[in-house]
Amino acid sequence: MGKMAGEMPLKKGEEIEITIQDLAFGGQGVARLNNWVVFVDQALPGETVRARISKRRKNYLQARVIETIAASAHQVEPMCSHFGECGGCALQNLDYAQQIAAKQRQTEDSLKRLGGFMDVPMAPIVPADQLQFYRNKMEFSFSRCRWLKASEMGSDNDLQKEGLFLGLHARGFYDKIIDIADCRLLDPQANDMVAAVREFARQSGRPAYSTRDHQGFYRFLIIRRSKQVDEWMVNLITREYEAQIAADFTKWMTDRFPQISSLLLSTTSKQAAVAFSEHETVLAGKATIDEKIGDWIFEISSNSFLQTNSLQAVKLYEQVRQDAGLRGQETVYDLYCGAGTISIYLSRDAAHITGFEAIPAAIDDARRNCIRNDVSNCAFVCGDLKDLLTDTEAQIAQHGKPDVMIIDPPRSGMHPKTVQAILRLLPERIVHVSCNPTTLARDLQIFCKTDYQLIKVTPVDMFPHTAHIEAVALLERKKH
Ligand SMILES: C[S@@+](CC[C@H](N)C(=O)[O-])C[C@H]1O[C@@H](n2cnc3c(N)ncnc32)[C@H](O)[C@@H]1O
Repeated sequence: MGKMAGEMPLKKGEEIEITIQDLAFGGQGVARLNNWVVFVDQALPGETVRARISKRRKNYLQARVIETIAASAHQVEPMCSHFGECGGCALQNLDYAQQIAAKQRQTEDSLKRLGGFMDVPMAPIVPADQLQFYRNKMEFSFSRCRWLKASEMGSDNDLQKEGLFLGLHARGFYDKIIDIADCRLLDPQANDMVAAVREFARQSGRPAYSTRDHQGFYRFLIIRRSKQVDEWMVNLITREYEAQIAADFTKWMTDRFPQISSLLLSTTSKQAAVAFSEHETVLAGKATIDEKIGDWIFEISSNSFLQTNSLQAVKLYEQVRQDAGLRGQETVYDLYCGAGTISIYLSRDAAHITGFEAIPAAIDDARRNCIRNDVSNCAFVCGDLKDLLTDTEAQIAQHGKPDVMIIDPPRSGMHPKTVQAILRLLPERIVHVSCNPTTLARDLQIFCKTDYQLIKVTPVDMFPHTAHIEAVALLERKKH
């Protein structure tokens, strides 16, 4: 029998019975037991579970479900067969309305707790229309270790612990891979492509790379499928280039998948597990694929960032447009501009837009995309923003003083030097797009301490069934 509230103290290894009250940021169930906050992995709001305490920290407990005593009223059938094992769509057994309600609360909660905003001006979350096959890009990893279910342990399948596997990371493991066969995020045809590449790699006799000993050949497979244009890019990333593998892989894939418009073989010598092409060879077709966001067409190369949910990107960019409140006269800076998508999307609304971005291939794409879309009032600067904006006077002399700034940093947020540079440039409005409520709260707190007021925060659900949260925050300069 599990411990009920009131029977303190609680120790690691003890069993408790608990009803989950909410979802915490990251997707864990959260409940209160006396004065403790208890995080329970893979438990849904409304579910009553028997759980074992796996960690006891100063102000919270971590627990693992042993048994569900009463199911949540919001529980639904998961859509894919890898649910529970895969680190991908942790929320797919929770009703979608509850998923987005939790994301709304989590965004507000982060801004309160971490940003010190007592009264957060939250707008309702913008839901997604498409809940399956909504991604335009997936990265799969090769590994020598397959993740085994508990039921497979100790059986003949142990032999498969070492081999060549290709798929997604098992929940909580950086080196164990689920040999994915049924992913519902990209496209059903992508599952066939993953299976074909896995088979090719196995037949080639070359091993998967391992981050344990940094030996091996096959590293990543990136598949992109543009949703509005229907083009496919397949990029196999290996440790080094081999002409015979390149020739065999070209035949293998083009025979099976004539729909691929860009077939690439790339290499990376980096030890970090980051699917990035250092050297790229076009095996068949072209080096980029086309995708549409709204009325605009974008050429995207393998290393360029593109919002991974093309349909929902329109809603995200419309929110940015609404918050930016442009009237055709403004000078705009688009920080972390990727392939220039936001700049070009807003180009008809502003006098001039300058985009800043670190990846050279993305800047090349941005410039080409201006030509493709007949846009002449955007310019792009390549470099690390923490260095680019150091000399703010020089930036103003070259690109004008920004009236409005769009900021869309990576998950790690902005470098402190960039934040300080923005505070020297002092645009009237800042539209801050963020995929991480934690770093968003930190950055907004700094802006609002001195010069800005937080006007509105709108979460946009770009990633249904996952714990990821995207939000657009509007800041206006304080009138002193
Ligand atoms: C979240 S993406 C946003 C891209 C773009 N705004 C869009 O909507 O497609 C962040 C971008 O910031 C770039 N980036 C990351 N760190 C950077 C830095 N320190 N300086 C400049 N760009 C950076 C990345 O390469 C990536 O293209």
